[in-house]
Amino acid sequence: MSVQSVSQLNANANHDHILILDFGSQVTQLIARRIRESGVYCEIWPFNQADEQRIKAYNPKGIVLSGGPCSVVDKDSPRAPDIVFEMGVPVLGICYGQQVMVQQLGGLVEKGDEQGREFGRAYVDVTAHNELLDGVWDKGAHEQVWMSHGDRVTKLPEGFEIVGTSEGAPFAFIADENRRFFGVQFHPEVVHTPHGAALYRNFTHNVCGCKGDWTMGAFKDEAVAKIRKQVGSGKVICGLSGGVDSSVTAVLLHEAIGDQLTCIYVDTGLMRQGESKQVVELFRDHYNIPLIHEDASERFLSGLEGIADPEMKRKIIGGLFIDVFDDCKKRVGGAEFLAQGTLYPDVIESVSFTGGPSVTIKSHHNVGGLPEHMELKLVEPLRELFKDEVRDLGRALGMPEDFIKRHPFPGPALAIRLPGEITTERLEILRKADAIYIEEIKNAGLYDAIWQAFAVLLPVRTVGVMGDNRTYDYVCALRAVTSTDGMTAEYYPFDHKFLDRVSTRIINEVMGINRVVYDITSKPPGTIEWE
Ligand code: XMP
Repeated sequence: MSVQSVSQLNANANHDHILILDFGSQVTQLIARRIRESGVYCEIWPFNQADEQRIKAYNPKGIVLSGGPCSVVDKDSPRAPDIVFEMGVPVLGICYGQQVMVQQLGGLVEKGDEQGREFGRAYVDVTAHNELLDGVWDKGAHEQVWMSHGDRVTKLPEGFEIVGTSEGAPFAFIADENRRFFGVQFHPEVVHTPHGAALYRNFTHNVCGCKGDWTMGAFKDEAVAKIRKQVGSGKVICGLSGGVDSSVTAVLLHEAIGDQLTCIYVDTGLMRQGESKQVVELFRDHYNIPLIHEDASERFLSGLEGIADPEMKRKIIGGLFIDVFDDCKKRVGGAEFLAQGTLYPDVIESVSFTGGPSVTIKSHHNVGGLPEHMELKLVEPLRELFKDEVRDLGRALGMPEDFIKRHPFPGPALAIRLPGEITTERLEILRKADAIYIEEIKNAGLYDAIWQAFAVLLPVRTVGVMGDNRTYDYVCALRAVTSTDGMTAEYYPFDHKFLDRVSTRIINEVMGINRVVYDITSKPPGTIEWE
């Protein structure tokens, strides 16, 4: 992370920023989101990648210590670098972060007994007041929070006092107001702590004195300047998938460097109904961005002929994509840079406690199979942003709302929504069913409440009866899930009338389907896509 951190720092040097030291909590990213929602830039660093020199150079206005799966009581458990408590900046410790602060500053933490453990909803009785609580919690209040801890603080370091207690944690909320060190046993970053976002806002604004000027408008202007500086008069190519990330990347780049950008849209023949037309119209006709629209559908469909194995499909598509992209690239002539819509969750290094002391870097999902040997320098203007921030950036760039809010769509496209062999006939059936399903979801006003919805065409025929005739046609499965990041998901609880309407329309309007089923599997144990 060190190389990119320097660039991130440069990009945000004009803004106040907060450092989050990650001890491996499942919800560390939520801390970053709450802080950024308060208009303050922040970065997440693994605790073991943060040394004194680096932290001083970053010069944060405040530091947050995240939760984590370890026990501070255990030998060799992670510690914060001492500089964290010596820089004179406010520190907020969350759960493990609170315990590590207490332990390092001379207090005591003990293994929790049966009664001391708290998981899930709990209540804090507020016994004192300080600037972190201003306008949020009053002394004497009884407030809902979300807890997840085994160990607990049993003796405070000098200078600290109790601010709140819960049933299982007498030191649920502590503070040393002089040094502006705060510790909470609960997790203010999760929605189950209803006033948690307001507490983070107080931390960044009241306690750390951040201005809250990190807006998408400001980010856009700075990103434009940074792209111009990086690219100079060089040529840039950008692969468009039709998804939000690559689209926002392209529009941002176009704003920065105009015609030095050429977009490449590879039509694999596996796109949804009307999708290619929509992409080409938006980019070539509306934005006037030079665009190569490569119709490679025959190449893809013949490459996939007879293939039913999901992994084989993915490999073939990935390989062909690289070949076609390479061919198109040659036509641009002299391109030096490749722009990609890599996001912050793809580049955050997380602390890995299962894989030993090493850090794992989350794999890139949205690279679209682009080869590493392309010898192009990368331009990745979104690598500091979360998905919802990318959507905000799209809005700041004036992009159409229905484009910005599109559901995610996988690189291998409809190929992984057609279990079994891919044929043009089955693709066409799937496209029609999918379009009806999405249209009905939009008509019902449900599109934005759903993370992703799509139809799958099963390689199974069943017997039906339509009018006086026997039918023997395919089964269509419908999938709709809610999720925050695609890592876990719940199926969407449509009412029966809605499902009834979609099923009737699909069976009546799409030749080749005579049965519709709804997938009620969560992730895990299922995945969102079927292949
Ligand atoms: P799964 O099926 O793994 O999907 O639960 C999680 C999210 O990732 C998308 N997905 C992909 N996106 N290339 C992509 O760009 C892929 O190969 C790919 N496979 C799955 C999926 O649509 C969902 O949003």
